[in-house]
Amino acid sequence: MRILVIGTGGREHAIVWKVVQSSLVEKVYCIPGNPGISEIAECPNVSLEGDFNHVADFAENHQITLTIVGPEVPLAKGLVNVFQARGLRVFGPTQQAAVIEASKDFAKDLMVKNSIPTADYRTFVDADAAINYVKTVNQPVFVKADGLAAGKGAISGRTVEEAVAAIKRILVHNDFGVSGQKVVIEELMIGEEASFTVLTDGDYCLPLVTAQDHKMSHDGDQGDNTGGMGAYSPAPVITKSIEKEVMDTIVYPTICAMKAAGREFKGVLYVGLMITQTGPKVVEFNARFGDPETQVILPRLTSDLVPLLNACVDGNLNLCTAEWTSEAAVCTIMASGGYPGDYETGKVIHGVDDADALNDVVVFHAGTKLISDKIVTDGGRVLGVTAIGTDIESSINLAYQGVSKISFEQAHYRSDIGYHAINRE
Ligand code: AMP
Ligand code: GLY
Repeated sequence: MRILVIGTGGREHAIVWKVVQSSLVEKVYCIPGNPGISEIAECPNVSLEGDFNHVADFAENHQITLTIVGPEVPLAKGLVNVFQARGLRVFGPTQQAAVIEASKDFAKDLMVKNSIPTADYRTFVDADAAINYVKTVNQPVFVKADGLAAGKGAISGRTVEEAVAAIKRILVHNDFGVSGQKVVIEELMIGEEASFTVLTDGDYCLPLVTAQDHKMSHDGDQGDNTGGMGAYSPAPVITKSIEKEVMDTIVYPTICAMKAAGREFKGVLYVGLMITQTGPKVVEFNARFGDPETQVILPRLTSDLVPLLNACVDGNLNLCTAEWTSEAAVCTIMASGGYPGDYETGKVIHGVDDADALNDVVVFHAGTKLISDKIVTDGGRVLGVTAIGTDIESSINLAYQGVSKISFEQAHYRSDIGYHAINRE
């Protein structure tokens, strides 16, 4: 088989890393890829701008058997629709289905109409009406831009003042551009978060192993919301009985509701969960693999990923099983100092090969670039150092051993990835 992966981040590096291990696969391409991906796959110079027909041309001309879409933006812009219309096999939801991530208002409405547990909410387009609402409820809330915002569009409003400031950022100052044409205001949920991911062919859902992300920029969950500063798997907060509850009360009702709405969802459904005292509730849906969750989930998959993705496309996922190691995986993100705010790029990165050379450590590239044979920083999240070990503690130690080999100016990483799991023990 010939595989094309779409995307450029650590998640896509992990997908390519797993796919190249498949005995079914003879050639892997990645568009646009990154310097880490280009060591194991070919990254042709094809742009993701425009209507995706030139990407489909590439897939046709290179006899690609399956295209796997990593990030949310091409899904939301309809890459899958373009490929399907041209008879090309592609893994991921259509634009109509990807709206479950691309519009929080859509996702909340779907949940409420189908009694899927989530925080109470209201949606506003008018800033004054939104401000009146938060003044009236006078309780801690979360204020969110409706559309895609790279994981940075949810703002905590612990006080009325904070909530009003967040509403103004989104609806008045347009900090999130067109993604902020509506604002979703949610009740604050209390509990521990976890990431639950399933593959689905539109009917059957196959759960992957659980993970937990660390969204805040600094140790102790302080600082600002980011795309994710690290992750570990498994997430012990999701017990077997909670997993069953999530499948029965969230995953299957969501997949059924999407189908009933004429938006059949095929691909990866990522459920961001809050495990509250009254059970698991949905924080958000994503229409794709999590980042950095994928960097800890796929290293634990001992069976082949490719047949599972094919089965999602072909509609026979019910015939498949996935095998997992009981070992734990931890990924620490090394970011540019200042992320998720302003940061500088172009800093030379040292030591990636030394970290990669450690047994059971793999360094996934995210925001990196090659300039005259030197790898330099080129984004907020730069690298993800993943380690796999017998238990969470040994994986944490190994991941930080990997991190200690790598350096670049103004590098920033959290030193407490995995601590929720350790605190439980
Ligand atoms: P989102 O972009 O919707 O996933 O939100 C980003 C992060 O904000 C989540 O991972 C949570 O940590 C936090 N968050 C969002 N909504 C809520 C909520 N209703 N209650 C508590 N925390 C929330
Ligand atoms: N790590 C959270 C996400 O992928 O959205």
